[in-house]
Amino acid sequence: MAFLQERILFSGLLIFCMTAVVSSRNRYYTPPPVTHLTDYFPHLSIDQGFSNFFGGSNIQLTGNGSVANLALDKSAGSGLVSKNKYYYGFFSAAIKLPSGLSSGVVVAFYLSNADIFPHTHDEIDIELLGHDKRNDWVIQTNIYANGSVSTGREEKFYLWFDPTEEHHQYSIIWNNHHTVFLVDNIPVREFRHNSAFPSVYPSKPMSIYATIWDGSQWATHGGKYPVNYKYAPFVASFADVEMSGCIWNSKGSVSSCSKAAGVSSSDPLEGQAFVRLSEQQMVAMDWARRKLMFYSYCKDSSRFKILPPECK
Ligand SMILES: *[C@@H]1O[C@H](CO)[C@@H](O)[C@H](O)[C@H]1NC(C)=O
Ligand SMILES: *[C@@H]1O[C@H](CO)[C@@H](O)[C@H](O)[C@H]1NC(C)=O
Repeated sequence: MAFLQERILFSGLLIFCMTAVVSSRNRYYTPPPVTHLTDYFPHLSIDQGFSNFFGGSNIQLTGNGSVANLALDKSAGSGLVSKNKYYYGFFSAAIKLPSGLSSGVVVAFYLSNADIFPHTHDEIDIELLGHDKRNDWVIQTNIYANGSVSTGREEKFYLWFDPTEEHHQYSIIWNNHHTVFLVDNIPVREFRHNSAFPSVYPSKPMSIYATIWDGSQWATHGGKYPVNYKYAPFVASFADVEMSGCIWNSKGSVSSCSKAAGVSSSDPLEGQAFVRLSEQQMVAMDWARRKLMFYSYCKDSSRFKILPPECK
């Protein structure tokens, strides 16, 4: 989060431009059918997958160790970091967001290597941003590559359900072909690896993080709607964690790769279900983008005099 300052600037700008907030009741839809990629992989217990990252006293495991409740209160947020670093893979968690007034609360499930590459870091973000209305959350996706923190590649969506009522699956495919963000297996965004501009694609090993933190300054119109600790603690529940792919070790080699046993199409690195979107997934992604996307950097010509190269 060292580059938070840059983000504050951008997000302030962005949020300013998107004032039209639709009432949440109007956007609950039944999504189109899609393949459940999350069914292909085993669930890890929290202990198998993660160590504490910060705010240890605000982390509680339940469900026989399969569920982590991460709390934010006045004293601290909290977070988990994966025990392994991955060089490509499929990453997923079922997340239930805190109910009540959530303005300024940020729940994140993301990949980053800022700890080992402070100046050329990569990052793939799913950030769930609490809003000033009750139970009104949005999902923000972002990609940074090779230290490109000055070019935020944000896309933001309304969710088509109330994310505080039960767990929903938030997933990331990241391989040499593309990066895909999925919500309940519906792809909402695909970012293709284009060899014409290699520096915009995350391509160094990353850890996986699950966090909750106070984004008052960053996420809410420059601090206009800060976290209201009257409603604390805010608790986000993470369950059904999946991390499958190639584990990278510090000697700089890939030490082991996991696949769903015997099903070649479910290799998250090279399986046919993972290297490109199916026709059905394209239809679903089109649905999500038409109905629910309310910001894309590729359409933000007031921010970019020249749009980033992949926006064509
Ligand atoms: C709890 O988890 C342990 C280890 O994963 C397992 O052996 C045990 O059967 C589980 N207990 C229940 C009640 O699910
Ligand atoms: C990443 O950034 C570093 C330092 O700015 C640069 O030397 C390197 O060529 C870049 N890598 C790619 C793939 O663009």
